[in-house]
Amino acid sequence: MSGLEFNFTEADFRTLSRLALEDAGIELNEGKRTLVYSRLAKRLRSLGLRDFSEYCSLIQEHEGAQERRHFVSQLTTNVTKFYRESHHFDHLSAHAIGQIREKTRRGQPVRIWSAACSSGEEPYSIAIELAKHMTPQELSHIKILATDIDNKILASASKGIYPATALANLAPELRQRFFTETDQSGALQVSTEIRQLVTFRHLNLIKTWPVKGPFDAVFCRNVAIYFPDNIQHDLWENFSRVIAKDGFLYIGHSERITGATARRFTSKGATIYQLTDAVGARSNA
Ligand SMILES: C[S@@+](CC[C@H](N)C(=O)[O-])C[C@H]1O[C@@H](n2cnc3c(N)ncnc32)[C@H](O)[C@@H]1O
Repeated sequence: MSGLEFNFTEADFRTLSRLALEDAGIELNEGKRTLVYSRLAKRLRSLGLRDFSEYCSLIQEHEGAQERRHFVSQLTTNVTKFYRESHHFDHLSAHAIGQIREKTRRGQPVRIWSAACSSGEEPYSIAIELAKHMTPQELSHIKILATDIDNKILASASKGIYPATALANLAPELRQRFFTETDQSGALQVSTEIRQLVTFRHLNLIKTWPVKGPFDAVFCRNVAIYFPDNIQHDLWENFSRVIAKDGFLYIGHSERITGATARRFTSKGATIYQLTDAVGARSNA
């Protein structure tokens, strides 16, 4: 690419594509060149680098480890919102809740995982949906794990503070009940009752997971689309090993479960799956 502030060669793009794939599973095809340039140019500017070749060298050196995390963070897409793909939350409170209640009655922990949670709207929506329907005693058994590769977004997610505009698609009674005023003008914070149900942790979906399950439900939405087929297959396979028998997997609107693992899941509606053949998965019962 010529006529730009920083020289960006074909070889630089190939190096950055390889590193994005190795670090995060993110596939950068030719069509992403302009996007990569514009997202990383600000990093070069703030580091005082002359061109992309210097940037490629830096992030491959030991001293560049911190910048390598910024690199991944710049390339991820964090778009999300409260109650995104709302039919998943309808399913959670109309169907999955039966099993969830049964476990809380037996005094067993219920574990739900929001994998690739971005700025927190997804795990908080899960918590709000359950809190709408469950008693404080039942809720005391619920644990929601929320993970993402991007530490910066996790720091903001754990605060649970959002501009009022981010709550536009929430019913007024939910805003009233589950959010509190803050001293930042126009911003609201998720209530303590909801925040204490959610634990945020760093986790890279394409590396070894420091979690074992079993999970009663997993939300892994709008992240697998960035992964190549082989990484997607491994991802579904890994989920089939940590979801409890008859637990649910919710995926993004343009994603589908592929590979040999697909037969273990039974479709329960658009992008909703139940792990009915739990080979390798452990029952929580
Ligand atoms: C588009 S957001 C999806 C947020 C939410 N799940 C939703 O559907 O609204 C994608 C998220 O995936 C995260 N991500 C990308 N690659 C990842 C990886 N290898 N491991 C974990 N999270 C990753 C990004 O940081 C980003 O927050």
